[in-house]
Amino acid sequence: MAGRIPKYFIDDLLARTDIVDVIESRIKLKKNGKSYRASCPFHNGNNKSSFSVNSEAQFYHCFNCGANGNVLSFLMEYDGIEFVDAIESLADQLSVNVIREEETNYQSHPTPYVDRKDMYLLMADIMRFYQQQLRHHVNSAKVINYLKSRGLSGETVKHFKIGYSPPGWDELRKRYATSSELELQLVESGVLISKSVGVSAGASGSYDRFRDRLMFPIIDRRGRVCGFGGRVLDNQEPKYLNSPETPIFHKGKELYGLYQVKQAHKDIQRILVTEGYMDVVALQQFGIDYAVASLGTATTPDHIKLLFRSTSEIVCCFDGDKAGKDAAWRALNNALGHLQDGRMLRFMFLADGEDPDSFIQKEGKSAFELLVENAQPLSDFLFEQILSQVDMRHNDSKSKLAQLAIPLISKLQATVFREMMEEKLTKLLGIEKEGLKKLLPAASILVKPKKQKSTPMRLAISILLQHPKLAFSLPLFPEFKIIDLPGINLLCEILDICRARQDLSTGQLLENWRDKPEYSNLSKLAIWNNDVEEDKHEDVFFDILENFLTIHIKTKIEKLKLKERSGKILSSIEKKELVTLLMEQ
Ligand code: UTP
Ligand code: MN
Repeated sequence: MAGRIPKYFIDDLLARTDIVDVIESRIKLKKNGKSYRASCPFHNGNNKSSFSVNSEAQFYHCFNCGANGNVLSFLMEYDGIEFVDAIESLADQLSVNVIREEETNYQSHPTPYVDRKDMYLLMADIMRFYQQQLRHHVNSAKVINYLKSRGLSGETVKHFKIGYSPPGWDELRKRYATSSELELQLVESGVLISKSVGVSAGASGSYDRFRDRLMFPIIDRRGRVCGFGGRVLDNQEPKYLNSPETPIFHKGKELYGLYQVKQAHKDIQRILVTEGYMDVVALQQFGIDYAVASLGTATTPDHIKLLFRSTSEIVCCFDGDKAGKDAAWRALNNALGHLQDGRMLRFMFLADGEDPDSFIQKEGKSAFELLVENAQPLSDFLFEQILSQVDMRHNDSKSKLAQLAIPLISKLQATVFREMMEEKLTKLLGIEKEGLKKLLPAASILVKPKKQKSTPMRLAISILLQHPKLAFSLPLFPEFKIIDLPGINLLCEILDICRARQDLSTGQLLENWRDKPEYSNLSKLAIWNNDVEEDKHEDVFFDILENFLTIHIKTKIEKLKLKERSGKILSSIEKKELVTLLMEQ
């Protein structure tokens, strides 16, 4: 295992990076006073300037959807990458190597250090090996015949970098597993299978996972090969073999073809979600270059989130049979929480036995696009499915209808779309909107998030988070740590961090809490509009601190006086303390 990345390294990286540059290289920013504005990349809204990037704070924030964070949070969200990858991405840009702490507690089966970047390079090499085999293996003619029988052109094969994994058990192993360390890496990346589980591959050997298959490389959002899907050339089972879960490949999070769609369009009007590799490939060849496929899994909430980041309209394409309807229903359930105004999800169903590949090969592009145009809106599909489960002639049909619809509608965010769905339901139930509100879980009805209550502690913390420099010149108040007030420990912790560094930004400061329970509250306070005027925050902040001290002194005096009054004798130290306190008051 690679060692941890030390905190000082992350801190230094943040200090040397400008969030504005990083975000500007991905979305268009407009200068607006001290900050930069843009339309928010994390939700599809109409407001062209709800997203604000503050260069001084090194922090971003969307006033509509509430997304916020520092440059690492942005990279993780926007590029859809993990924390460590975000750090590597920043380090790359500064041309520095990521430092890692020495690993001290070795596991009983030590695994050699596997650098993620190496794994991507390895996968790219292997993709090229499969591509080369497709042209030059003795089976080449057979493979090319198969491609022809599926109607795929050489150009399409090249576009998707399709390859061929040779038969035999060690064609890939022979070439690439030239050391036991490499063999292990190949096992970890899923292209080799270790002969025995749990024992290092080198000791007992390994063999090629993909043999005699057409190979579809799966490309991640950043254009890196992260996995493969392999199809047999005949009727053997399993028809498709996919890469297993690896450190760089998570089936439920990847979509085949998404990278190519993004490459083909700057603004993606809509994305079509299909079920298979072949569907994506055939559609592209026929000019439908906006299709992706889930990798043999249902459409997950992660998929939906990912897709809505790139487009405002998703059309899910399924078989017309029962299985297709069931899959659509699952996709609908997964999507409900991610719908917002301006986002659309529709469903299209093909005739039984057809898939997009077979359909477009037979009927052509315009016939297919007509189906896309006529896809069923989510609301229609939802009510159609619910109504099909209810016999409206029955007495209790309405309560059954409400029972089925309400949990689904409750998943929707407070939007015009939700209101429309509520209206549709009230019509079907024949009740007034007020009546429906009684049926829906109270909390989920169109309520705006509560405004944060202002307390002196919250105010102090928010001012400090927004202006970390304030603490630098602050003298140490040891008394602070013993003041008995909720939140004082957190305030002291922040003060300590800020006191040590003059040029700390909000983004750097918050990094100290990323995976801690306090993070969500702190990030809210960091963007909280506390209504303190720009040139007053220093005064307000020091007033609050002073006030805390006064309260502290008063309570101490009270305690000592109480002791006196209850007949106990104060020690000489306590007496002295009382005098000092009374003078400080
Ligand atoms: P299908 O069986 O519908 O295959 O599986 P297909 O896409 O139409 O493929 P062709 O046209 O026969 O070549 C749909 C998807 O389900 C996954 C694959 O991702 C496939 O593209 N799948 C299917 C598997 O992972 N394993 C299998 O054995 C079969
Ligand atoms: Mn098919």
